[in-house]
Amino acid sequence: MFITFEGPDGSGKSTQIVLLAERLRAAGHDVLQTREPGGTAIGEQIRHVLHDLANTAMQPRAELLLYSAARAQLVGQVIKPHLERGGLVLSDRYFDSSLAYQGYGHGLDLDLLRSIQAFATGGLKPDLTLFFDIEAEAGLGRRREGAAEWNRLDAYALEFHNRVRAGYRALAAAEPNRWARLDAAQPIVDLQTQVWGLVAERLTTRS
Ligand code: TYD
Repeated sequence: MFITFEGPDGSGKSTQIVLLAERLRAAGHDVLQTREPGGTAIGEQIRHVLHDLANTAMQPRAELLLYSAARAQLVGQVIKPHLERGGLVLSDRYFDSSLAYQGYGHGLDLDLLRSIQAFATGGLKPDLTLFFDIEAEAGLGRRREGAAEWNRLDAYALEFHNRVRAGYRALAAAEPNRWARLDAAQPIVDLQTQVWGLVAERLTTRS
Protein backbone atom coordinates (compact mmCIF):
# COMPACT_ATOMS: atom_id res chain seq x y z
CA MET A 1 0.00 0.00 0.00
CA PHE A 2 1.27 3.42 -1.02
CA ILE A 3 0.04 6.49 0.89
CA THR A 4 0.94 10.08 0.04
CA PHE A 5 0.66 13.21 2.18
CA GLU A 6 -0.25 16.41 0.37
CA GLY A 7 -1.20 19.95 1.27
CA PRO A 8 -0.10 23.56 1.35
CA ASP A 9 3.09 24.62 3.14
CA GLY A 10 2.60 24.66 6.91
CA SER A 11 -0.31 22.21 6.90
CA GLY A 12 1.34 19.94 9.49
CA LYS A 13 1.54 16.90 7.21
CA SER A 14 5.19 16.29 8.07
CA THR A 15 4.28 15.86 11.75
CA GLN A 16 1.43 13.51 10.86
CA ILE A 17 3.55 11.29 8.62
CA VAL A 18 5.95 10.60 11.50
CA LEU A 19 3.08 9.77 13.87
CA LEU A 20 1.44 7.46 11.34
CA ALA A 21 4.73 5.67 10.56
CA GLU A 22 5.28 5.03 14.28
CA ARG A 23 1.81 3.66 14.74
CA LEU A 24 1.97 1.40 11.69
CA ARG A 25 5.37 0.05 12.75
CA ALA A 26 4.01 -0.66 16.22
CA ALA A 27 1.23 -2.65 14.53
CA GLY A 28 3.89 -4.76 12.77
CA HIS A 29 3.93 -3.21 9.28
CA ASP A 30 7.10 -2.86 7.23
CA VAL A 31 6.98 0.92 6.72
CA LEU A 32 9.18 3.02 4.50
CA GLN A 33 8.84 6.76 5.12
CA THR A 34 10.17 9.14 2.51
CA ARG A 35 9.83 12.70 1.26
CA GLU A 36 9.94 14.80 -1.86
CA PRO A 37 11.96 16.35 -3.20
CA GLY A 38 14.66 13.99 -1.96
CA GLY A 39 14.51 10.53 -0.48
CA THR A 40 17.60 9.25 -2.32
CA ALA A 41 21.20 10.54 -2.47
CA ILE A 42 20.57 11.81 -6.02
CA GLY A 43 17.20 13.28 -5.03
CA GLU A 44 18.74 15.11 -2.06
CA GLN A 45 21.27 16.73 -4.45
CA ILE A 46 18.39 17.84 -6.66
CA ARG A 47 16.57 19.13 -3.54
CA HIS A 48 19.62 21.26 -2.77
CA VAL A 49 19.50 22.86 -6.25
CA LEU A 50 15.74 23.49 -5.89
CA HIS A 51 16.09 25.09 -2.46
CA ASP A 52 19.27 27.09 -3.08
CA LEU A 53 18.50 30.78 -2.56
CA ALA A 54 20.99 31.60 -5.33
CA ASN A 55 18.62 29.95 -7.84
CA THR A 56 15.78 32.48 -7.74
CA ALA A 57 15.94 32.77 -11.55
CA MET A 58 14.74 29.17 -11.99
CA GLN A 59 12.00 28.82 -14.57
CA PRO A 60 8.83 26.90 -13.61
CA ARG A 61 9.50 24.37 -16.40
CA ALA A 62 13.03 23.74 -15.15
CA GLU A 63 11.65 23.44 -11.62
CA LEU A 64 9.06 20.91 -12.77
CA LEU A 65 11.65 18.76 -14.52
CA LEU A 66 13.92 18.76 -11.47
CA TYR A 67 11.08 17.70 -9.14
CA SER A 68 10.15 15.03 -11.67
CA ALA A 69 13.74 13.81 -12.01
CA ALA A 70 14.05 13.42 -8.23
CA ARG A 71 10.70 11.58 -8.26
CA ALA A 72 11.77 9.20 -11.03
CA GLN A 73 14.85 8.28 -9.00
CA LEU A 74 12.83 7.82 -5.80
CA VAL A 75 10.23 5.58 -7.45
CA GLY A 76 12.78 3.36 -9.19
CA GLN A 77 15.30 3.11 -6.39
CA VAL A 78 13.13 3.11 -3.27
CA ILE A 79 9.33 3.10 -3.59
CA LYS A 80 8.76 0.34 -6.17
CA PRO A 81 11.22 -2.14 -4.64
CA HIS A 82 9.64 -1.66 -1.20
CA LEU A 83 6.10 -2.13 -2.52
CA GLU A 84 7.21 -5.21 -4.44
CA ARG A 85 8.55 -6.70 -1.20
CA GLY A 86 5.05 -6.26 0.24
CA GLY A 87 5.92 -3.22 2.35
CA LEU A 88 3.97 -0.07 3.02
CA VAL A 89 5.24 3.29 1.71
CA LEU A 90 4.43 6.73 3.13
CA SER A 91 5.61 9.75 1.16
CA ASP A 92 5.57 13.38 2.23
CA ARG A 93 4.50 14.82 -1.18
CA TYR A 94 4.38 13.04 -4.57
CA PHE A 95 3.26 13.94 -8.10
CA ASP A 96 0.14 15.79 -6.90
CA SER A 97 2.50 18.46 -5.51
CA SER A 98 3.72 19.10 -9.05
CA LEU A 99 0.14 19.36 -10.32
CA ALA A 100 -0.81 21.73 -7.49
CA TYR A 101 2.32 23.94 -7.40
CA GLN A 102 3.67 23.91 -10.97
CA GLY A 103 0.25 23.38 -12.57
CA TYR A 104 -2.32 25.34 -10.60
CA GLY A 105 0.25 27.63 -8.90
CA HIS A 106 2.51 28.53 -11.84
CA GLY A 107 0.01 27.87 -14.62
CA LEU A 108 1.80 25.05 -16.48
CA ASP A 109 -0.46 22.93 -18.66
CA LEU A 110 -2.09 20.21 -16.56
CA ASP A 111 -2.44 17.58 -19.31
CA LEU A 112 1.21 17.97 -20.17
CA LEU A 113 2.14 17.70 -16.50
CA ARG A 114 0.13 14.49 -16.19
CA SER A 115 2.04 12.93 -19.11
CA ILE A 116 5.36 13.95 -17.59
CA GLN A 117 4.30 12.46 -14.24
CA ALA A 118 3.23 9.20 -15.88
CA PHE A 119 6.65 9.03 -17.53
CA ALA A 120 8.61 9.91 -14.36
CA THR A 121 6.77 7.44 -12.13
CA GLY A 122 6.20 4.65 -14.66
CA GLY A 123 2.51 5.13 -13.91
CA LEU A 124 2.74 4.42 -10.17
CA LYS A 125 -0.22 6.03 -8.40
CA PRO A 126 -0.83 6.20 -4.65
CA ASP A 127 -3.57 3.98 -3.18
CA LEU A 128 -4.52 6.76 -0.79
CA THR A 129 -3.70 10.46 -0.77
CA LEU A 130 -4.28 12.40 2.44
CA PHE A 131 -4.95 16.08 1.79
CA PHE A 132 -4.13 18.33 4.76
CA ASP A 133 -6.30 21.28 3.91
CA ILE A 134 -5.70 24.65 5.54
CA GLU A 135 -6.23 28.26 4.47
CA ALA A 136 -3.12 29.50 2.69
CA GLU A 137 -2.78 32.41 5.10
CA ALA A 138 -2.95 30.17 8.18
CA GLY A 139 -0.41 27.75 6.69
CA LEU A 140 2.04 30.50 5.76
CA GLY A 141 1.55 32.08 9.19
CA ARG A 142 2.60 28.83 10.88
CA ARG A 143 5.73 28.69 8.71
CA ARG A 144 6.77 32.21 9.41
CA GLU A 145 5.88 32.33 13.12
CA GLY A 146 6.75 35.70 14.60
CA ALA A 147 8.00 37.40 11.42
CA ALA A 148 7.37 41.08 10.59
CA GLU A 149 4.40 42.53 8.70
CA TRP A 150 3.29 41.61 5.17
CA ASN A 151 5.15 43.05 2.22
CA ARG A 152 4.63 42.96 -1.55
CA LEU A 153 6.29 39.57 -1.89
CA ASP A 154 4.14 38.13 0.87
CA ALA A 155 1.06 39.28 -1.01
CA TYR A 156 2.36 37.62 -4.17
CA ALA A 157 3.12 34.48 -2.19
CA LEU A 158 -0.36 34.45 -0.70
CA GLU A 159 -2.00 34.61 -4.13
CA PHE A 160 0.21 31.79 -5.34
CA HIS A 161 -0.58 29.66 -2.30
CA ASN A 162 -4.30 30.32 -2.71
CA ARG A 163 -4.08 28.92 -6.23
CA VAL A 164 -2.18 25.91 -4.92
CA ARG A 165 -4.86 25.25 -2.32
CA ALA A 166 -7.66 25.62 -4.86
CA GLY A 167 -5.72 23.22 -7.09
CA TYR A 168 -5.50 20.61 -4.36
CA ARG A 169 -9.24 20.90 -3.79
CA ALA A 170 -9.94 20.39 -7.48
CA LEU A 171 -7.62 17.37 -7.64
CA ALA A 172 -9.25 15.83 -4.56
CA ALA A 173 -12.75 16.41 -5.92
CA ALA A 174 -11.87 14.80 -9.26
CA GLU A 175 -10.65 11.52 -7.69
CA PRO A 176 -12.67 11.02 -4.49
CA ASN A 177 -11.75 7.33 -4.17
CA ARG A 178 -8.05 8.05 -3.91
CA TRP A 179 -8.19 11.31 -1.91
CA ALA A 180 -9.29 12.01 1.64
CA ARG A 181 -9.53 15.64 2.74
CA LEU A 182 -8.69 16.51 6.34
CA ASP A 183 -9.18 19.78 8.13
CA ALA A 184 -5.56 20.61 9.02
CA ALA A 185 -6.54 23.47 11.33
CA GLN A 186 -7.55 20.89 13.97
CA PRO A 187 -5.34 20.03 16.93
CA ILE A 188 -2.57 17.51 16.15
CA VAL A 189 -4.15 14.73 18.22
CA ASP A 190 -7.56 14.99 16.51
CA LEU A 191 -5.93 15.00 13.10
CA GLN A 192 -3.88 11.96 14.08
CA THR A 193 -7.04 10.08 15.11
CA GLN A 194 -8.67 10.85 11.77
CA VAL A 195 -5.60 9.82 9.79
CA TRP A 196 -5.43 6.54 11.67
CA GLY A 197 -9.13 5.89 11.07
CA LEU A 198 -8.76 6.36 7.31
CA VAL A 199 -5.65 4.21 7.03
CA ALA A 200 -6.94 1.43 9.29
CA GLU A 201 -10.12 1.26 7.21
CA ARG A 202 -8.14 0.88 3.98
CA LEU A 203 -5.88 -1.75 5.49
CA THR A 204 -8.89 -3.81 6.61
CA THR A 205 -10.63 -3.66 3.26
CA ARG A 206 -7.41 -4.79 1.52
CA SER A 207 -6.64 -7.73 3.79
P1 TYD B 1 9.79 21.42 1.91
O1 TYD B 1 10.85 22.22 2.59
O2 TYD B 1 9.94 19.95 1.85
O3 TYD B 1 8.40 21.85 2.55
P2 TYD B 1 7.07 21.14 2.97
O4 TYD B 1 7.23 20.82 4.41
O5 TYD B 1 6.02 22.16 2.70
O6 TYD B 1 6.88 19.90 2.11
O7 TYD B 1 9.67 22.03 0.48
C1 TYD B 1 8.90 21.52 -0.47
C2 TYD B 1 8.47 22.68 -1.33
O8 TYD B 1 8.54 22.29 -2.69
C3 TYD B 1 7.02 23.08 -1.06
O9 TYD B 1 6.89 24.48 -1.09
C4 TYD B 1 6.28 22.50 -2.24
C5 TYD B 1 7.30 22.49 -3.32
N1 TYD B 1 7.10 21.43 -4.34
C6 TYD B 1 6.69 21.77 -5.60
O10 TYD B 1 6.52 22.97 -5.90
N2 TYD B 1 6.52 20.79 -6.55
C7 TYD B 1 6.74 19.48 -6.27
O11 TYD B 1 6.58 18.60 -7.15
C8 TYD B 1 7.16 19.12 -4.94
C9 TYD B 1 7.42 17.69 -4.58
C10 TYD B 1 7.33 20.13 -4.00
